[in-house]
Amino acid sequence: EALPSLVGRHALVTAGPTFEPIDPVRYLANRSSGRQGYAIAAALAAHGARVTLVSGPADLPPPPGADVRRVETAAQMLAACQAALPCDIAVCTAAVADWHVANSTDRKMKKGPGAAAPVLTLAPNPDILAQLGAPGPARPALVVGFAAETHDLERYAAAKRVAKGCDWIVANDVRPETGIMGGAENEIVLMTADGSERWPRLAKEAVARRLAQRIAEFFSPDRSP
Ligand code: C5P
Repeated sequence: EALPSLVGRHALVTAGPTFEPIDPVRYLANRSSGRQGYAIAAALAAHGARVTLVSGPADLPPPPGADVRRVETAAQMLAACQAALPCDIAVCTAAVADWHVANSTDRKMKKGPGAAAPVLTLAPNPDILAQLGAPGPARPALVVGFAAETHDLERYAAAKRVAKGCDWIVANDVRPETGIMGGAENEIVLMTADGSERWPRLAKEAVARRLAQRIAEFFSPDRSP
């Protein structure tokens, strides 16, 4: 079966973790692999979309057909997203750090006899998804967020969809025993204004293909209301 066309559409995808420097050799990070976002970028490109993938540090090959912009910090990720606008579709899969180190240093922090342990001061990072979802002339027609939760998945995800102004939210259970964060499979609930849909556990590539298919249907002129 032919893939419905996203030709002429520009998709912006964020993926991976962010690294927030402590000093030139140390950083705060998280366990995101970037795998789900890279797979979504590839799947959207397979539908003919022009894809900009803004990626935090990830040990993955560039997805075929995507223009990859590599960044490290949340601030850099936001700037790269803004530079990529306008877009028709934004899919934010990145596990953006909630905080950066406000008192990071240009020189390596030194331990030493008698030296007190450093105290890190954290400051909030910009919310890239919320900025992309905010009303305005540049708002993408379809903004998709992810919600990784360890409990009360659907309740938190539904609230997040509204709070961040996204159209769809992909909720997933990242309790360690699910093996999802950093793993090869995902089990998601797709939540829209119309309700929620639980998908079976699938390879992240299969979740990506199914999501890209739904996005293509959203943009197809004959979509049912
Ligand atoms: O608030 P929380 O981090 O759970 O929200 C997750 C969603 O928001 C994901 O789609 C993630 O990519 C996005 N996000 C973002 N910028 C942030 C924090 C989260 O784009 N600073």
